[in-house]
Amino acid sequence: MQSLKEQLQAYEQDINAFSPADAAELENYRIKYLGTKGLVKQVFGEMKNVPADQKKEAGQLLNTFKQLAEAKYEAFKHLQEQSGKKSNDIDITLPGTALPSGTRHPLRVVENEIVSIFEKIGFSVATGPEIEDDWHNFTSLNMPEHHPARDMQDTFYVSQNPDWVLRTHTSSVQARIMEQGNLPVRVICPGRVYRNETISARAHCFFHQCEGLYIDKNVSFADLKQTLYYFVTEMFGADTKLRFRPSYFPFTEPSAEMDISCTVCGGSGCSLCKHTGWVEILGCGMVHPNMLRNFDIDPEVYTGFAFGMGVERITQIKYQVNDLRLYSQNDIRFLKQFQSA
Ligand code: DAH
Repeated sequence: MQSLKEQLQAYEQDINAFSPADAAELENYRIKYLGTKGLVKQVFGEMKNVPADQKKEAGQLLNTFKQLAEAKYEAFKHLQEQSGKKSNDIDITLPGTALPSGTRHPLRVVENEIVSIFEKIGFSVATGPEIEDDWHNFTSLNMPEHHPARDMQDTFYVSQNPDWVLRTHTSSVQARIMEQGNLPVRVICPGRVYRNETISARAHCFFHQCEGLYIDKNVSFADLKQTLYYFVTEMFGADTKLRFRPSYFPFTEPSAEMDISCTVCGGSGCSLCKHTGWVEILGCGMVHPNMLRNFDIDPEVYTGFAFGMGVERITQIKYQVNDLRLYSQNDIRFLKQFQSA
């Protein structure tokens, strides 16, 4: 028993001093102590020679020894696994791991494209606040209080002040531009708008629009048509056809809605165009004389056209996205499919 104790002490000293320089040394240690013919097995084999009354003490000593031998091995193995990744077999001349870079949001890609198409023909960008007052969002746009056209848009009101709304359309920016009184005007106004809609594949409580406004002497409906024709062919390709349908907006007279030939089926009929061959993309018209008067612009001298389109709608047609909710769910698998032009 005495000699077993001494032997274990010697091994324990050896183990405590052990510090492997590399994986091979650690493996030698493992074989020496923990292998099938290792020292731990050997000393346990000597239990049979220990007198019965000392077996208990010997058993404890052996277990402590075994635990020490194992713990030492596990500790160094763990250390080597950790440092293995940055050990000297790394080639520091190799390129590093690139951080994944984000992409522009599809709506921003399309908005940028719309803006740059209009910039090429002399439009500049104008913006306005998302929290608007009644005058700029409704009244000045020829929609006085109780005007039925207000019901066309379900409005979010700001509870602290019933005169404030979350703008329901970017036409409010038209009002702000006219208010500045710098004529002629040629602006494109992209931005976010809000409506109290239940969220579904086809409706959302916020979305994006791009407004256009052109006011000068002698601006005619022909100018509106030609401008939009230019836009459509730039955006959707030279073969795209367009048609205007008479419509109603309080701030334009005459008013129209504009359709383009379906870019998916080319006009033969599909689910995007609901088998009509046409898809509606915007509302437009000649600025209503009342609206000009609201901003002290003389309708006998100046005329203008305006149009407003939904950015989600244009994106849906261009990329065949059929669920509006995808734009705000932040699913990276969706978002990374759009590269900026
Ligand atoms: N503001 C309209 C809407 O949100 C869109 C619109 C229609 C804008 C005709 C215009 C326009 O400037 O002339 O539905």
